[in-house]
Order: sequence, then structure tokens, then C-alpha cells
Amino acid sequence: MKRRTLLVGGAGAVAAAAVAAVVLWRPEDRGAPHDAYFSQLNGLLKREGPGHPVMLVDLDRMNHNIDVLTTSVGREKTYRVVVKSLPSVPLLRHVTARARTAALMVFHQPFLNAVAEVFPQSDVLLGKPMPVAAAEQFYRMLGHTPFDAAGRLQWLVDTHDRLLQYQALARKLGVSMRINVEIDVGLHRGGLPEPEALDALLATIASDDLLRLTGFMGYEPHLTGVNGGLEHPAVRDVLARYRGFIERTREHASGVTLDGLVFNGAGSHTLRIYERDRTMNDLSAGSGVVKPTDFDTFHLTDALPAVFIATPILKRYDGLELPGDPWAADVMQRWDPNRRRLYFIYGGYWKAKFVSPSGVPDALYHSTNQEPVSTSESVDLAVDDYMFLRPSQSEHVMLQFGDLRVVKDGELVDRWPVFHQTG
Ligand SMILES: Cc1ncc(COP(=O)(O)O)c(C=O)c1O
Repeated sequence: MKRRTLLVGGAGAVAAAAVAAVVLWRPEDRGAPHDAYFSQLNGLLKREGPGHPVMLVDLDRMNHNIDVLTTSVGREKTYRVVVKSLPSVPLLRHVTARARTAALMVFHQPFLNAVAEVFPQSDVLLGKPMPVAAAEQFYRMLGHTPFDAAGRLQWLVDTHDRLLQYQALARKLGVSMRINVEIDVGLHRGGLPEPEALDALLATIASDDLLRLTGFMGYEPHLTGVNGGLEHPAVRDVLARYRGFIERTREHASGVTLDGLVFNGAGSHTLRIYERDRTMNDLSAGSGVVKPTDFDTFHLTDALPAVFIATPILKRYDGLELPGDPWAADVMQRWDPNRRRLYFIYGGYWKAKFVSPSGVPDALYHSTNQEPVSTSESVDLAVDDYMFLRPSQSEHVMLQFGDLRVVKDGELVDRWPVFHQTG
């Protein structure tokens, strides 16, 4: 074959490959306007919204999720509501009332004092071991709150050393303390590593009238997404570890009784696994009530997204604009049909993903002040219309927008203040 024929043939192959690459890798138009649900919310917020970013909670969807969770927990176990994931007093009031539970799990001392004040009848378990200084701060701030800390609060203790610190505090303040022990059931985020480690704690508790054992907390989010139930090896491993701690307590010479002990575990991701299990009698969940995007996981498929960030559009361009030379923006929008329109929204760069309009590609740069949002030409929104995002988690993100705006049947029906992060 002649050299020229070879060269022409080679160039043809390169051109064919380039065409194939364009066909295969060129992004499709993924944009879509608001559907009926978000159009209604958009109209509502344009009429009655405050003109700045807000966090919406959909009451009907949330009620559905509460019912899904409480059905999984069943009548024989306690459903414990995770406060950090639903950080608002009226929100917690709603969830506990609908779920008919008084059990709460708290992770932050200022929230603990707030809970003691507004929910004096609740049964509170700490979700992480507090430094003893935070425990002391709790008692100092308790004042005349009608909360019976000795009877309704379970401090979480993860080591014998921490137990000795709490014992010293109990003696200093002259208060009785209920102690729940964090156990490691496979997560390896602390807690007692094996049942034998219980012995020293049980002995200390048994010898002190101010201390009482109230149970265990064994969290196991490493089972998130486990496609299977109680027979799955990873689940069996968690439950075997859990039972090992219970057995050790039953056999312990101190004669601690198992009656009435709280065997807590689970979280929104995993709670459903235990519907037919009786090892744990107390299951926690918070985030699943509102279902942020991190909770689009296997055991939560029946739950509905119920929390959204809504933010007004401030500016619109019919074409991609970037600072400086227009060349890059031109190439980009020719290549990607999802970058042919550019909006700027009020705020941005939250821990959240766009849900409506859909098909929003990653931002080319970020701003917490005015985030650029590219879309395809299929999205035809105007300045003052709203865009909607789903937070990736409710914890912390829910604290960033002031009062939650409660939506029901396309109406804004309430405003629910959120917790203060500091106290
Ligand atoms: C000890 C403990 N239990 C339960 C949960 C579950 O919370 P959620 O249902 O909001 O994921 C958490 C979350 O961090 C946790 O740390």
C-alpha cells in the first residue's frame, strides 16, 4: 500500500473516532422545567415568600415518612427521634406526637438544655459521649427546669475513664446519673470494643448508689445499603456482637438486671432491617423523616423527600457567560446543551443538590452570595421565580435558613423556629 493511502486511511479513522466521541460523550439535554409540584411551590413563594432563601418542610410527605418509620419500629420497640437531624422544637413536637413517642436522642449540650426545658416528659439518651465539662454545663444551666435529669436522662459513656469522670461529677453535684454504655458493634467509631470491657464499668456502677446502668447504644451505619435482611452476614455480625454485650451483662457477678434496659441502635438508613428482630428494643431515626439526598438509600425507598431549599432567581442570561475571554464559555455551551442558559440565585453553595429545575450541571464556580446555575434551553424561568434544592443532610443545614416554612396542600401553613447552635 502506498504511504499516501495509509495516511489518508489513518486520518479517516481519527475523524471517525472523533465523530463517535462527540456522539457518545456529548451530554444530552437533561433540563426540564418545574413539574406540577414545584410549579405550585414556585407560585406560592412568589405570592407569599419572603424573597430570600427558605427551607420548606412538606407536612403531608413528612407525615407519610413518620408513618413508614413507626410501622417499621412496630409496637414492641421504642422509636427514638434523633434531635440533631430534626433541630426544631415544633418539628420535634409534631414528630413525637404523630409517632406517639417520648424518646429522644440528643448530641449537643445546648440542644440538651433546650429539650429539657420544652420536653420535660421526654426520655433522653445522649447520642455521643459528652465531655464531662459539657455534662457539668448542662446541670449548671438546668436551673429550675422541671426536668427530672436523674430519672429521664441517660448519659452515654464509652470508656471506664469517662465513667469515673461522670462518677466524680455525680458526687460533686450530689446527683444520681443514669448511664448508657456505647458499644462497638462493628462501626469502629469508639465504644466498648468487646463484652469483657464491660466488667469494669458494671463493677463501678454496681458499687455506687449514684450510678445506674440503663442500657447500651450500638450504632451501625456501616450497614447502610446492605441489600438484605436479618440473614445478611453483616447484619448477623452486628446482632451477634450486640447480643455478646447483653449476655455478658446477664452473667456479670454484680447481678445487674436486664429488666427495663434500653438496647438502642439503628438510624434512618438501617432501621427497617430490624422489623422482625428482638435484640434491640429501641431504634433511632431522624433524617428519614425529611429524607435529604444522602438518605436515598436502600431501606428508605418508601420515604419521600420532604425538605427543600427554595431560593429566588436574581438574574438570567440566555447563554453561558464567564468572567474574561468569551471563548471558553462559547466552546462550553456549544458542547454541553445544559449550559446554554445562566441564572444567578440568591445565596448558594449549600450542602444540597438541585431538584428543580432538573438537569443542572455542576457549577463552574461557587458563590455563597450569588451562585451561578447553568441550565439547558428547556428551562425557562424568570427573575423572581424560585429554584429548589434538596439538602444532602438535614443536620446543620436546617439551621441555616431561620424558621422552617411548613407547606401543606400548596399553602404555607406555619413557621417553625429552629434550635440555636450555641447556648
Ligand atoms: C448514635 C446515632 N444513632 C442514630 C443516628 C441516626 O440519625 P439519622 O436517622 O438522622 O441518620 C446517628 C446519626 O448520626 C447517630 O450518631
